[in-house]
Amino acid sequence: MSQYDVIIIGAGPGGYVSAIRCAQLGLKTAVVEGRETLGGTCLNVGCIPSKALLHASHMLHEAEHNFASMGLKGKTPSVDWKQMKAYKDDVIGQNTGGIEFLFKKNKIDWIKGWATIPAAGKVQVDDTTYDTKNIVIASGSVPSSLPGIEVDEKIVVSSTGALELPKVPKKMVVIGAGVIGLELGSVYARLGSDVTVVEYMDAVCPGMDKDVQRSFKRILEKQGLKFIMGAAVQGVDASKTKAKVKYALKKSPDTEEVLDADVVLVATGRKPFTDGLGLDALGIAMTDRGQVATDAHWRTNLAGVYAIGDAIKGPMLAHKAEDEGMAVAEVIAGKHGHVNYGVIPGVVYTAPEVATVGASEDALKAEGRKLKVGKFMFMGNARAKAVHQAEGGFVKLITDAETDRILGAAIIGPAAGDMIHEICVAMEFGASAQDIALTCHAHPTYSEAVREAALACGDGPIHS
Ligand code: NAI
Repeated sequence: MSQYDVIIIGAGPGGYVSAIRCAQLGLKTAVVEGRETLGGTCLNVGCIPSKALLHASHMLHEAEHNFASMGLKGKTPSVDWKQMKAYKDDVIGQNTGGIEFLFKKNKIDWIKGWATIPAAGKVQVDDTTYDTKNIVIASGSVPSSLPGIEVDEKIVVSSTGALELPKVPKKMVVIGAGVIGLELGSVYARLGSDVTVVEYMDAVCPGMDKDVQRSFKRILEKQGLKFIMGAAVQGVDASKTKAKVKYALKKSPDTEEVLDADVVLVATGRKPFTDGLGLDALGIAMTDRGQVATDAHWRTNLAGVYAIGDAIKGPMLAHKAEDEGMAVAEVIAGKHGHVNYGVIPGVVYTAPEVATVGASEDALKAEGRKLKVGKFMFMGNARAKAVHQAEGGFVKLITDAETDRILGAAIIGPAAGDMIHEICVAMEFGASAQDIALTCHAHPTYSEAVREAALACGDGPIHS
């Protein structure tokens, strides 16, 4: 008889959420996790610690740039980096401890160690083999570097090392203007580092709405980040204390340029982490990008083995993994798990935040869709002006020209990562822009900008 109904491999947001839902559905559940604490990359070395540092450094930025004009005078705080890291570690501890509590509450066993799958229905950890009816691979992802670059997590760091630097570097070079590069680049720029971001593409956050890309870059430049765009990094020479980043501009590929740095952050993407699981020997099908291949119900080609999160296709986002984790639990319990991949928000937690959902204006135009686009600048939003957050930001709502149905949205501005969910809910309900426009929004809130963008899809916004 099987010891477990489900064994989940990995306790990141995909795995731990899946385990809790499995337990709630009456399945006997265990999670294998080799880290010392639960929560995976997100809680230990990703989303959560970076948000703590983003918050602390944003406070410093406010003190340096906006306090005096609000009549708050006096000594500007200086950075106690050791204490800031201790604060970040405390935030991590509270969150990972919280998951441990939830596991106990839901009677989920934590099998400590690294798992191998010797056969369907079996999970091995060290010398013990556990029998289980179902296995969910939720093993996540790891940073991927570039050829010619060796990440030592001291001078040349991934996001993991960037959260643990012994001191705030004087000069930092960030390779990649994606989410990680811009979030952590912002942190160090606010803490006083001279930060240069080198990006291969011609715009930040490739794939994002072009309007947002332009405003976002301008705002970050104003905050002190420098950008070298259209530049391919070819290698990094690192000593014990310094590094040289070698790159070539796409327009002159034969000319090697060099940047000096005290620390280099390599933020050029992540790749699925499936090492040691034994998937090859099991004959589990993989995609050509090294992801575990799954069908619409997160089943691999081996009966009883499922996979979710960063280890499979789709955006590498904690909340996408969480949704898949809940849905796969429902499938295993004989219910109908579902994820609407068309309504998964993406958020960059800089200041201002950037949030998007659904299709972008550019992608829909390329498809030849007839659109109505409503845009409202935060300069017309009273609340944003009151807190120095109005400059450069906007809400953009993209709707079908004929039906007025919302197809996508992009927000750059204060609390964008929270406000986007009004639009997510609207999209889930198949709402039109008029539905939002006719909904009373409290004044004065940032959310009024969403309503104004919806009004801009109809007879026009009021405050612009
Ligand atoms: P990314 O894929 O977002 O960005 C990588 C950037 O590096 C791209 O802009 C790419 O053009 C550039 N690049 C690649 N090779 C280069 C080269 N040789 N020279 C110059 N530039 C080069 O990857 P990132 O930022 O490392 O994030 C990894 C994953 O983690 C992403 O899927 C991201 O969505 C996720 N993540 C999400 C967060 C959030 O939702 N707030 C936070 C942190 C990570």
